[in-house]
Amino acid sequence: MKIISGPASKELAEKVSALTGYPNVPVAVKVFPDGESYVRLDGSVQGEEVAIVQTTCPPAQDGRLFQLAFMADAAKRGGAKKVTAVVPYLAYARQDKMFLSGEGISVETIARMLKAAGIDEFLTVNIHSENALKQFPFPAKTLSAIPLLAEYFVQKGHKGAFALSPDKGAMYIAKQAQAVLGGDVGHLDKVRDRYTGQTKQTAEGLNVKDQTVIILDDIISTGGTIVGAAKILREQGAKHVFCACVHGLLIGDAEKRIIDAGVEEIVGTDSVPGSVGKVSLAPLISQELKGAN
Ligand code: R5P
Repeated sequence: MKIISGPASKELAEKVSALTGYPNVPVAVKVFPDGESYVRLDGSVQGEEVAIVQTTCPPAQDGRLFQLAFMADAAKRGGAKKVTAVVPYLAYARQDKMFLSGEGISVETIARMLKAAGIDEFLTVNIHSENALKQFPFPAKTLSAIPLLAEYFVQKGHKGAFALSPDKGAMYIAKQAQAVLGGDVGHLDKVRDRYTGQTKQTAEGLNVKDQTVIILDDIISTGGTIVGAAKILREQGAKHVFCACVHGLLIGDAEKRIIDAGVEEIVGTDSVPGSVGKVSLAPLISQELKGAN
């Protein structure tokens, strides 16, 4: 197998190459004056199975998706016998059903587009809803980075911390963290207005007084969910509040708002490269690629 370093995940791809021992294929990238993307694989893939590592987080998720499609096409034209897309953050994964009449299902459109470009298999990390993968036109799998995130907090001395999910739907995430942290687990309740996007959170029967609490979620986008949760925890007398997410998009001033709400540290993965992407997905992805070969 060879690892193609997508421009959005160059460092992560290089780490995966180092851990697996699979050679790295660099990618030459440029943007034309009119804004269109150009990619060229800078190495042979003839007769090889390849894994293209390319996250599709903001900014420019659409451009990153097109780069991924262009790399897949280039790999197939270059004679690759199988193309696996490794997409740590999959853009549009939250539009996985028709919530309102007149909508489409964006994530399925993306998957069909990637299939047409030459992708044979798909690997992602903590996709918002695993159900979405069932409609993909190729074998698709999601891995969980939650044990790695929880281990980060254990290493920092927070064994026994309370694992809190900001809504019932993410309770499976809190439970995976609890298995590593060894403390209690619980959730808030969150209701989202589908038209305004506004959310309301409540804490029925939760008691975190004097506890160290880690709020865990798949995605932090505007930060509203974490800010709301942190306020509730502070009101309840939590001693320390941290937050962890797989995909720390942190749009606008989300990071500042979360810290201002009393969260002591925000920890994410390199699915979204940047200051909070402290935990690398390289071991998780490498283990999966090794297992597949
Ligand atoms: C939604 O259900 C997700 O799991 C996250 O809770 C959500 O995307 C976070 O968004 P925001 O940071 O904008 O509140």
